[in-house]
Amino acid sequence: MSFAPDHKFNQMKQIRDELVNFKESPLYEYRRKNKYFPVVGEGSHAAKIMFIGEAPGKSEAETARPFCGRSGKLLDEMLASINLNRSNVYITNVVKDRPPENRDPAEEEIKLYSPFLDRQIEIIEPKVIATLGRFSMAYILEHFGLKDMIRSITQIHGKEFVADTKYGKVTIIPFYHPAVALYNSSNRETLMEDFQILKKYK
Ligand code: URA
Repeated sequence: MSFAPDHKFNQMKQIRDELVNFKESPLYEYRRKNKYFPVVGEGSHAAKIMFIGEAPGKSEAETARPFCGRSGKLLDEMLASINLNRSNVYITNVVKDRPPENRDPAEEEIKLYSPFLDRQIEIIEPKVIATLGRFSMAYILEHFGLKDMIRSITQIHGKEFVADTKYGKVTIIPFYHPAVALYNSSNRETLMEDFQILKKYK
């Protein structure tokens, strides 16, 4: 187990404070009315592997914890299959507030919230970014200069892409979103198989 220095904690807290007061977001009013929380992220600030989902759902917005509903239970199972748990990795989303009725995040929302994610990546400096679902896949590949590599998630799930960052190389691996594997056993098997790739990066 490695420990993250305090400055990482402080930088992450600063992001949380900004998100709490993020009135510029079109999702802020919805959050306030429903007494929801922004979902910043959870896990080790020294994690080698960072998981990035889409946006919080209802359970997440009620508890401020990413992936704590049904998709999260499956994510926990996938992590356990490679002998990892939430304290070994960092888990967050591109969009930090719940979109109404679990609709897809809008382009404008991705634009507004992604600078927070970019800062989180710079704080954690992961060796691997595991994207969950097509929105984080597209955002991350484009962000790291790999826009030309973007295909449908059915074509590039489980593939490894290497990019340069300010802190060195990062491997980006797109995964299906756990929600699509909840009711489809073949997607679930594919996700489980793809997850095994992460063993070599632990
Ligand atoms: N789906 C996501 O993309 N993120 C969560 O935190 C929960 C469900």
